[in-house]
Amino acid sequence: MESIQFGNTDVKVTRIGLGLAALGRPGYINLGHGKDLREDYRVQHMKESTHEVLDVAYEKGIRYFDAARSYGRAEHFLGEWLQGKNDIAVGSKWGYTYTADWKVNAEKHEIKEHSLEVLNRQWPESLELLTSYLKIYHIHSASVESKVLDNPQVLDRLWELKSKGVIIGLSLSGARQSATLEKALSVTDHEGCLFQSVQVTWNMLERSTTKALQLAGKAGFGIIVKEALANGRLTNRNTDPTFSASLSLLKGMADKYEVGIDALAIAYVLRQPWVAVVLSGAATSDQLLSNLGAMELKLEEADVHILDQLVESPDDYWRSRSQLEWN
Ligand SMILES: NC(=O)c1ccc[n+]([C@@H]2O[C@H](COP(=O)([O-])OP(=O)(O)OC[C@H]3O[C@@H](n4cnc5c(N)ncnc54)[C@H](OP(=O)(O)O)[C@@H]3O)[C@@H](O)[C@H]2O)c1
Repeated sequence: MESIQFGNTDVKVTRIGLGLAALGRPGYINLGHGKDLREDYRVQHMKESTHEVLDVAYEKGIRYFDAARSYGRAEHFLGEWLQGKNDIAVGSKWGYTYTADWKVNAEKHEIKEHSLEVLNRQWPESLELLTSYLKIYHIHSASVESKVLDNPQVLDRLWELKSKGVIIGLSLSGARQSATLEKALSVTDHEGCLFQSVQVTWNMLERSTTKALQLAGKAGFGIIVKEALANGRLTNRNTDPTFSASLSLLKGMADKYEVGIDALAIAYVLRQPWVAVVLSGAATSDQLLSNLGAMELKLEEADVHILDQLVESPDDYWRSRSQLEWN
């Protein structure tokens, strides 16, 4: 897989990256998470399964990996696997603390706190595990409401990390992703914007950030798309009766291109000119291989036009997402 430059930074990434949210911990919200892990949650088993998926990713040419301090043991598993490998860039995130204690049905899976204390605690923890592979460091789910972009102490610390060569970014979530990104674009000094990376939910169903992303792209940001499959809603796993008409349309089109719906959905994202990386959130090697079908896929314009019609309002989209259960 070809490597490209990440925004206007000197880091190289591949068009498909692998995200570890579903791999590093027993519980997650994606539709069939428990089944994928064969409900065997022993740490050693989960580490081996993660390493298997990472091996397949590497063999297929993936060189960008996404983690977060709150993804259970994802950084541990990834850090062990990385040693001795070349040409890999890793992005991680701070701001959520993992609190599920390796349980699937924890009372609280993670706690969000965008304070200087959490940043100062989590940065050295991630760096120790991911060593010099850690190139991009995101605020995890920044929002206007969390006020993290108004916190001078946090911003000063991030400027300091940037001055040491770390690429500073933010990940977004919720119906107000655009407002947050626009605010991030205004955090500047005489040399430009603090942020050089953004990780955003953008897919066939939720495209409300397109304009803000075009602006960020022009400003030299590297843009990483997450949740390209709407957490599994854009796969065969979706049994929601209100989505069945859209799903059969997607199935018909995927059959025509001889790929899965997942590959179709990722190809739809990859064709956006501002996208650097699309994250696969695969929980198994088979899912990853199916996702990678997107790389060869060239969608016909008439089909793109049909897929464009599937868009939902951001409020509807984020309401559906908030109803997904941890499993
Ligand atoms: N706020 C943030 O910063 C944030 C938030 C979310 C995600 N992320 C990052 O983005 C990455 C990707 O996001 P995501 O995993 O949430 O979303 P996603 O890519 O929309 O969904 C991935 C899920 O889709 C299902 N899937 C994938 N391929 C499939 C196939 N061929 N057949 C059937 N099901 C398939 C799997 O669900 P099952 O497990 O149910 O099988 C998989 O876990 C994460 O790993 C993480 O690194 C960041």
